[in-house]
Amino acid sequence: MTKRKKYNIAVMPGDGIGKDVMDCAMIILEHINLDAKYFYEDIGLDAKKRNGTALSDHTLKVLRACNCCLFGAVSTTDESTILRLRQEFALSTNFRPCKGNGIDIAIFRENTEDLYAQVEYNPIPKKLRNFINKHERMKKFKHTPNDEMAIALRIITVKACANIVARAFRFAARNNKKKITVVEKANVLKETGNIIIRAVKEMSRRYPNIEVEIVNIDNMCMQLVKNPENYEVIVTTNLFGDILSDLCSQLVGGIGYVGSANIGKNFALFEPIHGSAPKYAGQYKANPIGMIRSIVLMLEWLGETKKAKALDLAINEVIEEGKARTFDMGGINNSLEVTEEIAKKYDSHI
Ligand code: IPM
Ligand code: MG
Repeated sequence: MTKRKKYNIAVMPGDGIGKDVMDCAMIILEHINLDAKYFYEDIGLDAKKRNGTALSDHTLKVLRACNCCLFGAVSTTDESTILRLRQEFALSTNFRPCKGNGIDIAIFRENTEDLYAQVEYNPIPKKLRNFINKHERMKKFKHTPNDEMAIALRIITVKACANIVARAFRFAARNNKKKITVVEKANVLKETGNIIIRAVKEMSRRYPNIEVEIVNIDNMCMQLVKNPENYEVIVTTNLFGDILSDLCSQLVGGIGYVGSANIGKNFALFEPIHGSAPKYAGQYKANPIGMIRSIVLMLEWLGETKKAKALDLAINEVIEEGKARTFDMGGINNSLEVTEEIAKKYDSHI
């Protein structure tokens, strides 16, 4: 009888370059000899064509039986697979460390609320319209018919803000960070914008050594382009976190370099932050580093600290050396060659 494996991990390549980078992920996982059993699940565009749904009940069942999962990339069909998974498994923390070019910024993005609650109306139902018409700022829309208007609810809860803020502070304390920057737009969005700011102020009392800074999203974008080295830990709501993570990824080399962890109570999903880039599908042109950095985050989450550290060092070494580079890194190597190079370097760090 074969010995039971320590971890059950679901592997969901998705479509487009999701498959390419997941092949790279599996080369790494095999190489580092993680004690895990892998469950392949088909999601996204191909799954939709085959089974009529991009995310089947069967896949959800498999995921529920696993410790965590790896996600490649999925093209948006009628419903976003990744957004559904974040909701379904209450993956309320999105952690996106952006490192490179002398920059080291960890983004903590609330992952389930805000405009991503996707409570939207178009046209506006009469009852809702009658109710919101009582708001004095609705006066200016008095003559706009219900079917010529769309409304999205920006839903922000104290609980979700407290959670993401607690995560950010814990990370900052453990990693000797001196400052947390909370990003919002509370000068305009006074009700929804102030909840996370209040959560930060409250939590900061427990961490007297960590400086807190409150910055508006527009100014943050400018500051990050101007002085990115001034920032260490950013905590923010969902949509602003989405925008800032693309911006920060470009500061550290590009969207292909950044991985992420979507973390819930007992389950987590790890994915590169890039999309499915269908025009490069199957060509092994994509940068595998975002995916492999997602494995580093997975290993940390599983408590496989030694392996995580060695893999992280290996990735940094390959980037620094600049010998194996995909085209976005300015080179001519394919995804597999960059992956092999990382695997080789891993051995010298373990
Ligand atoms: C991300 C992506 C997703 C998001 C898309 C694919 C729905 O941009 O993970 O950053 O908006 O969160
Ligand atoms: Mg995004």
